[in-house]
Amino acid sequence: MRAIWYDRQGPAAEVLTVGELLTPEAGLGELRVRLHASGVNPSDCNRRDGSHNAMEYPRIVPNSDGAGVVDQVGPGVDKTWLGRRVWLYNGQRNGRWMGTASEYIALSADLVTLLPDNVSFAQGATLGIPCMTAHRCLFIAGPVQGRVVLVTGAAGAVGNYAVQLAKWAGATVIATVSSPVKAERARAAGADHVINYRDENVAARLLEVTRGAGVDHVVEVDFGGNMHAALPGLRDGASIAIYATNGNRTPQVPVHTLMFRNISLYPMILPTSPLEARRRAQSDITRWTATGDRILSVAATFPLHETAAAHAAVERGDKVGTVIVEPIR
Ligand SMILES: NC(=O)c1ccc[n+]([C@@H]2O[C@H](COP(=O)([O-])OP(=O)(O)OC[C@H]3O[C@@H](n4cnc5c(N)ncnc54)[C@H](OP(=O)(O)O)[C@@H]3O)[C@@H](O)[C@H]2O)c1
Repeated sequence: MRAIWYDRQGPAAEVLTVGELLTPEAGLGELRVRLHASGVNPSDCNRRDGSHNAMEYPRIVPNSDGAGVVDQVGPGVDKTWLGRRVWLYNGQRNGRWMGTASEYIALSADLVTLLPDNVSFAQGATLGIPCMTAHRCLFIAGPVQGRVVLVTGAAGAVGNYAVQLAKWAGATVIATVSSPVKAERARAAGADHVINYRDENVAARLLEVTRGAGVDHVVEVDFGGNMHAALPGLRDGASIAIYATNGNRTPQVPVHTLMFRNISLYPMILPTSPLEARRRAQSDITRWTATGDRILSVAATFPLHETAAAHAAVERGDKVGTVIVEPIR
C-alpha cells in the first residue's frame, strides 16, 4: 500500500517519506479500513517534530484519525462490519506505529464507529481527536444540561465541537474568541454569548452574562494563559476541563483559592482517557451527527503525497477546523 512515514523526528518537509509498505492484516478483534481521509491534528505534528516525545518505534506512519470503508475483519469481529463506512481515532497511538497517513489501517474494532451516509469521509476524519476530546472535556465532571458552560477558543477544532455538543446536551454556552470572524464561527456553532478575550474583561463579562452566578464548567484550551482572567467569573464548586495549556505550560496554580472555592481541575489527554468515557463519546457523537444539525469543519484537503504540506498547514496555527489528507481520491 502507499503510505507516508518517518524514521526520525524533525520538520515535516525533511522527514516525511512517501512510498510502499506491506498492507496490514486485521488481527484478533481488529478491522481493516481502506482509508479515504486522514485527519491531521496538532499532536500528530508534535509527535513528528519531537516536541512531545522521543521516537517510540523505528518507523512511524503518522496521524491518529481517519475515515473509510471496512474491507477486512479479523477473528472475533462481527462480519456485518464489512463494507461499512466508518470513522476512527487513536490510529498512530497507544502502541501502534501505523497511523492513518496510508491507504489501509488495521486496528481494534473498539476504535471504529459507523459513519452516517450524509457525512463525508473528510468530515468523518474530523470526529476523532477534535470531537472526542470536546466530548470528554464537556462531560468529565458530569452532565451539563441546564448548566452554564464556558468554552475558550470556541473557533478552534476542539472548541467548536465543544460548543455544538454543549448546546446539544442542553447547556447555556459562553464562548471566548479573538476576532469578529471567530465570533461568527462560535455563534454559528450555537454559542449563546461570545466574548472577545483580547478586548474584553472576561471575568466581568462572565459575571454580567450569568447575572452574578458565575460559570459552572469550563472547556479550557489554554489553562495557563487564561486561569487568572477567568477564575473570578466561575461559581464556587465549578469545574475546569483542561485539554491544552500552551500559553503557560507550567503555570503556578492557586491551590488555596481553588480549595476554598471547591473548584476542580480535570487535565485530560484523549488517547488514554478511560475506555468507558471514550465509548460513551463514540455513541453520543453518533447520535449527535445523526441530528443533521451540526457543522463538521474541514479546513483544507491534501493528497497523500502532500502530507508534509498538510502538517505544515496545521503548524501555521490558522486552520479553521481539521486539515485532511486523502489517501484515496
Ligand atoms: N488533551 C488532548 O487530548 C488534546 C486533544 C486535542 C487537542 N489538544 C491540543 O489543544 C490545542 C488546540 O487544538 P485544536 O486542534 O483545537 O487547535 P485549533 O483548531 O488551532 O484551535 C485552537 C483555538 O484556540 C484559540 N486560542 C488559543 N489560545 C487561546 C486562549 N488563550 N484563549 C482562548 N482561545 C485561545 C485559538 O484562537 P486564537 O489564536 O485566535 O486565540 C484557536 O481558535 C492544541 O494544542 C492541541 O495539541 C489536546
